[in-house]
Amino acid sequence: MQTLPLLPDTAPFPAEQIATLNRIMTAASAEQRAWLGGFLAGHQAAQSAQPAAAPAQKAPLTILYATESGNAEILAAGARKAALRSGFAARVLDMADTTPTEIAKATNLLVIASTWGEGEPPQRAADFMRDLMADDAPPLNGIRFAVLALGDRAYVNFCHTGRQIDDRLAVLGGTRVVERVECDLDYEEEAAHWIDRTLGELAPEPDGAAVIHVDFARATADAPSRQKPFDAEITEHVNLHGSRSSTRTFHVELSIVGSGNAYEPGDAIGVVPSNDPALVEQVLRAAGGTATMRSTSRSAIATTSRPSLGRSSPLMPS
Ligand SMILES: Cc1cc2nc3c(=O)[nH]c(=O)nc-3n(C[C@H](O)[C@H](O)[C@H](O)COP(=O)(O)O)c2cc1C
Repeated sequence: MQTLPLLPDTAPFPAEQIATLNRIMTAASAEQRAWLGGFLAGHQAAQSAQPAAAPAQKAPLTILYATESGNAEILAAGARKAALRSGFAARVLDMADTTPTEIAKATNLLVIASTWGEGEPPQRAADFMRDLMADDAPPLNGIRFAVLALGDRAYVNFCHTGRQIDDRLAVLGGTRVVERVECDLDYEEEAAHWIDRTLGELAPEPDGAAVIHVDFARATADAPSRQKPFDAEITEHVNLHGSRSSTRTFHVELSIVGSGNAYEPGDAIGVVPSNDPALVEQVLRAAGGTATMRSTSRSAIATTSRPSLGRSSPLMPS
């Protein structure tokens, strides 16, 4: 989900105009925003007596990921969006679809890799990792890189694959621009900071062209996240099956007005549902009123008094 960069308080407009523009930007579709951007740029160019400057060469960036269950891939896609916004010519590659020889041609390299098994790379990345660790792996001189490792501290070989890649890229001659970050299961916030910081380090020096600095970091910090979910109103909730069907599939529409986010095709959304208070009440009553309950992020039910809940077997999750 793309976070809309709202105008900062420091924008050269009176406060009420900033509020109006922010309201318009938040409500506008991606197509309307693109049109407006093009219109203003064209208008500005037409006003200027100077011939248009040649477009600056964009810095190339390769974002390489290794994933088993998709976390690294989602982060890589987000990093690409951020990189495009920062003016990079960014591409995303799955380790399963490339080789170290191909990667050796990169200039700037971001790697996002998870660890699986007992400290092994994701299965699809096994060939790449074998070639990278081999004696005849290609030299990587001239590559500037940074590695984000995904893992789970519950495992002995925490973030082993990310560590291996980070060490190996340096041994093969690459230049590390940002220290490796090792993420536990709650990786979103740390990963977002790492992406921001790494793109900042890899960004080419400005060549004197006019640059408008906007504090996008603040907008990102305020953006909804797994830790700080946005309270979205359900505006549509329709069972797509007929009344005689025992299967239930729902069409659900959520309003994200006021979240500062724009949803685009291909974006993913995480939903953190709450348990129906009436159902919770019912389970508590069945447990004799002694249990305290909380819902987990997977919306399973955890209880501090499972034995007493166990006596009410019809209500136990299977
Ligand atoms: C079966 C299994 C084995 C795992 N093994 C490890 C491990 O050895 N070391 C580690 O740090 N994390 C381990 N993890 C955690 C994953 O690396 C972590 O969930 C990561 O976010 C997955 O990212 P991905 O979806 O991009 O593959 C394991 C997870 C599972 C489910």
